[in-house]
Amino acid sequence: MIKFNYKDVAKEQGWSFNSINPLVEYPIDYFYYKEVANAIKPTTIMLDIGCGSGEKAVRYFSNAKKVIMLDNEPEMLKRVVQNVEKILTPKEQEKFETKLANCDAKLDFKDEYFDLVVSRHCGGNMNEIYRVLKKGGIYISEDVDHEDCLELKELFGRGQGYKNLKSQKLEKQKIINVCVDLKFTNIELKNFHYIEYYPNKEQLKYLLTRTPILEYYDENTDDVILEKYIEQNTTDKGIKLVRRLYAFHLVK
Ligand SMILES: C[S@@+](CC[C@H](N)C(=O)[O-])C[C@H]1O[C@@H](n2cnc3c(N)ncnc32)[C@H](O)[C@@H]1O
Repeated sequence: MIKFNYKDVAKEQGWSFNSINPLVEYPIDYFYYKEVANAIKPTTIMLDIGCGSGEKAVRYFSNAKKVIMLDNEPEMLKRVVQNVEKILTPKEQEKFETKLANCDAKLDFKDEYFDLVVSRHCGGNMNEIYRVLKKGGIYISEDVDHEDCLELKELFGRGQGYKNLKSQKLEKQKIINVCVDLKFTNIELKNFHYIEYYPNKEQLKYLLTRTPILEYYDENTDDVILEKYIEQNTTDKGIKLVRRLYAFHLVK
């Protein structure tokens, strides 16, 4: 039985999925890293909450003045340091710092310190995010919807957020209510999806054994269910997997 946890994945590969190469179709013009890159100016001091190993992020953030990469998994932060050194120039490297912390707790930063706070697939404590943002500061997040990979979760009868499918709308509304109460001046929520097509079973299984999508993978029973999924979802382009996400763009 492979039980998902960030420590093992961080040790093995970080949060990089470069070894699999599904074909990706984006039906809408939304790309998180582009949104973030557009919000970065040469004066920007920014925080990435639940930064993972940062392979993609550090490239997109390198125009900022200062970047703090925060995660509660030391192995992820070790990877961030390696990636910063591998990918960026010495001058760009100087802008990056790592911080080991739990983003659900009080953040160890002064009030109104950041111009930009970002979080991709990690969430965060909205009260703290509001507190550490400057007036006019921006928060950009992308999160995984409970309905992400729904067709797969239905077949397995489990998965991340699967038990709470009905409450997803309410959960998003609760976040909006908190943001309204905090007095964010601009609150935008975008729901979107994209489609991945996997070239073979091995690549899809690689994803499912290294992410929380199914929460765990039991090879004694799950290989059979995966075969069934593949049978039902194989197309000319590959094995189809529908990814459903949502993104917030807030201004303090
Ligand atoms: C799904 S990964 C996303 C990584 C990265 N943001 C990306 O999109 O590539 C979630 C990351 O959040 C971190 N994380 C989970 N819970 C956290 C918490 N309470 N505080 C800080 N980091 C957390 C994990 O260690 C992991 O690196």
